[in-house]
Amino acid sequence: MGKTRNGLVLVILCVLCVSGLALFSAPIADGAEAVANDGAALVMNSCTLCHDTQRVCKALGNKGKDGWDITVTKMIFKGAPVDHEQKQVIVDWLWNLPAGSPPVCPKEK
Ligand code: HEC
Repeated sequence: MGKTRNGLVLVILCVLCVSGLALFSAPIADGAEAVANDGAALVMNSCTLCHDTQRVCKALGNKGKDGWDITVTKMIFKGAPVDHEQKQVIVDWLWNLPAGSPPVCPKEK
């Protein structure tokens, strides 16, 4: 009897421990959601991990909505940390952004 109880207590402790970790990571997730609706912030954060925004800049004005959808989908396959909702925001934002616009394009041009 005593042994089974100890085992049970351990299991409960483990569950508490795991949910404690989940609670700790929650504020970080909230922070990520705060920029979820800001296309500029999403692109400047998520699309600069592998290449600079010069690459994105060059493509501005050359792609339709579908073109950007395909490109961003490709980037997600490569590993861009963008969820489905953020992808829509990014595609809408980039598609409507005129060629040469900051912050994607450097100011001097
Ligand atoms: C995991 C790394 C990675 C991340 C993150 C990433 N890219 Fe890329 N991107 C690449 C690589 C590698 C290439 C060159 C190969 C190619 O063109 O497929 C590229 C090329 C491009 C190109 C030029 C080629 C084309 O199809 O027009 C554009 C535009 C582009 N990326 C936009 C983006 C955008 C927008 C994001 C953010 C949603 C992003 N990238 C995030 C790796 C990444």
